Amino acid sequence: MPLSPSAMPDTHDVSTTPTPAGSDLAPAANVPSDEEMWDIVEHHLVRYGGSFAPMLIERARGSYLYDRQGRKILDFTSGQMCATLGHNHPDVVQAIPKACEDVLHLFSGMLSPAVIELADALCQLLPPTLQKDLFLNTGSEANEAALRMAKLHTGGFEVVGLSASWHGMTAGASASTFVSARKGYGPTIPGNLALPTPNCYRCPIRHCQDQCDMTCLDVGFDLVDSQSVGAYAALIVEPVLSAGGWSCLPRATFSGCRATAKSGACC
Ligand SMILES: Cc1ncc(COP(=O)(O)O)c(C=O)c1O
Repeated sequence: MPLSPSAMPDTHDVSTTPTPAGSDLAPAANVPSDEEMWDIVEHHLVRYGGSFAPMLIERARGSYLYDRQGRKILDFTSGQMCATLGHNHPDVVQAIPKACEDVLHLFSGMLSPAVIELADALCQLLPPTLQKDLFLNTGSEANEAALRMAKLHTGGFEVVGLSASWHGMTAGASASTFVSARKGYGPTIPGNLALPTPNCYRCPIRHCQDQCDMTCLDVGFDLVDSQSVGAYAALIVEPVLSAGGWSCLPRATFSGCRATAKSGACC
């Protein structure tokens, strides 16, 4: 079911949260110190996109984190940057034990009522043109599947992505990611083309700051077209560019992209 925002006060204070029955908040005698924990990190953990934040988070609620010393930290990401649900949302906390009691994991050819209910609830939030769900584990997988569907449907293979985009770490998703994480990994999948990101704050062509006329999109599509071999499959666009600087695309971006795609101006 969709998360109910009212169940998630931003100021939710962990100190007022009832302690789960049976839990013991007193530190156990054999718990490693921070120094010992960082030593384990150094020896046994591989970083993701950069170094780890220099504190150990023991608890989290809403927009706040609590380190091992009980320091309360306002977390501006409140989760992975593209899934800012807030920490330990009560609806999520409630759903996890229910799944553990009902059914937790099935072969992908089998369905449980919970999955069907989720599909129905999600589609009620979506427009009539988006009425099919495919539940996967990560954002990278979702983008990977979307790109494969577009390739299958169109017969093409070229993917156009924004220059400030981040789509994930798997092969197809990272090939269409242009904001970072490209250097050092060798050739990417052929056919990925970058379109300048419309950004009123940092206009890519410095031409129409504060009076955007979408010249960047026109110039960008011309540039993409000159590199294309005429086998477009998809244009992949995040409405809010998270890793690319938390910028919201101007509304005209979407109408501009749609008009270009529909007119076949890119070919
Ligand atoms: C906008 C966006 N798309 C895709 C992804 C990839 O998601 P995941 O890390 O779940 O594979 C991320 C990850 O942060 C993201 O920010």
